[in-house]
Amino acid sequence: MNSQPIGIFDSGIGGLSILKEISYLLPNENLIYIGDTAFLPYGTKSKELIEDRAHKICNHLVSKNCKAVVVACNTATSAAIHKLRTSFSVPIIGIEPAVKPATQKTQSRIIGILATAGTLDGDKFATLKKRFVNDITILHQPCTGLVEVIEAGDHDDKKLHELLKMYIPPLIERGADTLVLGCTHFPLIKPLIATYAGPEVNILDPSLPVANELRRQLKTKNLLRDDKSGIYTFFQTGTNQQFETVISRQLGLKQTSYSLSI
Ligand code: DGL
Repeated sequence: MNSQPIGIFDSGIGGLSILKEISYLLPNENLIYIGDTAFLPYGTKSKELIEDRAHKICNHLVSKNCKAVVVACNTATSAAIHKLRTSFSVPIIGIEPAVKPATQKTQSRIIGILATAGTLDGDKFATLKKRFVNDITILHQPCTGLVEVIEAGDHDDKKLHELLKMYIPPLIERGADTLVLGCTHFPLIKPLIATYAGPEVNILDPSLPVANELRRQLKTKNLLRDDKSGIYTFFQTGTNQQFETVISRQLGLKQTSYSLSI
């Protein structure tokens, strides 16, 4: 069981930000990554469609013997994690915007959440806010269009800069001193986000806590692999030509992304 892979999925390349932290923390694990690029973006799709995609992908990963699955996508976690946990017996680890850490970090008592509309409109986010936020102002910023331009992989793209200019400075002008990256695509452009936010602003990326939670769950169940370095395999359901460039930029790996039809 311990040598079985860990499955990780997202709508596209965003989950590579999580895979990167997992690779640092658990270098011996075999990883299978699926980018559901045929259905990207998830952020503007219905809960039912995302639930269906998440179920199909999870089913595939479990059929490939994955010992755990990481839903490396805030939008899919919000839409589908409850159903996934009732449908599959392997540990399913999700991700949600780092609201609690942000409430602990902010001095101005104003935080900005950058996420997809799907995540911000979901019940899960409403519950999260109720649990952790009392006297703090939360500014929501649905980042429509940003995932698609990040997925295209060109950090000099004019459209990318226009969107960042539209979404980030207004949050800072309204007093936010802490920004939460509530979409796994956003850590891939964290330096650019920091440029638009300014040097004083805290930027919270929950990738490491997710990797820590995965390690905790595998350790508890005695499922950690302690053999030599793990093997990584990448799949995508669509045809993003930049997939391999981003794998190489993010992870320093020259890897093929295989086509997968689910
Ligand atoms: N990376 C995803 C997230 O964390 C979703 C992006 C999308 O496909 O809209 O929400």
